[in-house]
Amino acid sequence: MAQPFDAVPITDRVHWVGAIDWIITEFHGYATSRGTTYNAYLVMDEKVTLVDTVKAPFRDEMMSRIRSVVDPSDIEIIISNHSEMDHSGCLPEVVEAVRPAKVLASKNGKKALEAHFHGVAGVEAVEDGQTVSLGDTDATFVETRMLHWPDSMMTYLSGEEILFSQDGFGMHLASTERFADQLPRDILYAELAKYYANILLPFSKLVTKAVAGLREMALPIKMIAPDHGPIYRENVSWAVDLWGRWADLKPTRKAVVVFDTMWQSTEAMAGVVAEGLLEGGADSVKVMPLSAWHRSDVAMELLEAGALVVGSPTLNNTLFPTVADCLTYLKGLDRKNLVGAAFGSYGWNGKAVGELEGWLETMGVERVADSVSLTYVPDTDGLATCRHLGRQVAEAMVERAEADRT
Ligand code: FEO
Repeated sequence: MAQPFDAVPITDRVHWVGAIDWIITEFHGYATSRGTTYNAYLVMDEKVTLVDTVKAPFRDEMMSRIRSVVDPSDIEIIISNHSEMDHSGCLPEVVEAVRPAKVLASKNGKKALEAHFHGVAGVEAVEDGQTVSLGDTDATFVETRMLHWPDSMMTYLSGEEILFSQDGFGMHLASTERFADQLPRDILYAELAKYYANILLPFSKLVTKAVAGLREMALPIKMIAPDHGPIYRENVSWAVDLWGRWADLKPTRKAVVVFDTMWQSTEAMAGVVAEGLLEGGADSVKVMPLSAWHRSDVAMELLEAGALVVGSPTLNNTLFPTVADCLTYLKGLDRKNLVGAAFGSYGWNGKAVGELEGWLETMGVERVADSVSLTYVPDTDGLATCRHLGRQVAEAMVERAEADRT
């Protein structure tokens, strides 16, 4: 019977059977303005195998795509590379419907599935490096602990030379195109960077090791098939190389100015800080009012930055709420190797700037200029101190970038 959703063959024997989420705009704190996909893959070998599942509300879409190729009850093995709910949310229902001989997950994956679902039948733990024959092809499991959950692993399918990389090298991008080479490169770059900055950044040291490990294994890889976004079948090292570069967190000459404003005084200060940054040698300055930018966009811009300058008015004796929100989020992402400074306006109590200084210290951002805290509306002299602050930050940023080059 015709199905509402079809599978998409990615090789003669492997099919994409995932789901497209056109409408999602928020993914645990991360703005997903281009939607996302939850990718699952069907391997039509002697042992029919499903690699990952999808978020619970998308179960019917995945099952429809599977049915367009095979009777789901023919699935013998389900591989669960990652237990987060966007990939295993419908696993218990799928196991119930399909009754596979086994569900394979890492040791931590087995524990995580138990902790989430309290009883999924047939879950078996596999070892790092273990290989399971599916018939003509073999599945080899590669643990990638804390990239980005303790359970995370990837599966390499020999015979087809596909790396099913779960969240690895993925991006939140909904599209009818299934392959990266069918999509504009600038959009791919932006979404890959945003995903790295918002999900992987705190684990950059482990990313460096994992990328080196993959290179050492020297697996022949014709395709990288992640669990979000498009599949790489040309230039498969593109995303791997970018991850390796981002994980290094090299100092750069780009500055990010983040602020919010009540009566446009902190806004006026931000504009002049940006002028000072340019004067001091910044190659580019991204000015991000938090009324217009989401915290996850700030995280993305910081990925390739060398400086963070933060401004906040004082509201009710503390930070403006959007600024506190953004800093809380950035602290968790643990961006290293930044210089920065703080500024803000106030009426009768200038506590916000002192709090910003505390935040920068907590975040490990080296303060390289005295803070600027101005009352009510900044005058010419006040704006000159903002320009000076910007210049000092840029000079320190450039010095770091130069020192790193030598
Ligand atoms: Fe796409 Fe970590 O889940």
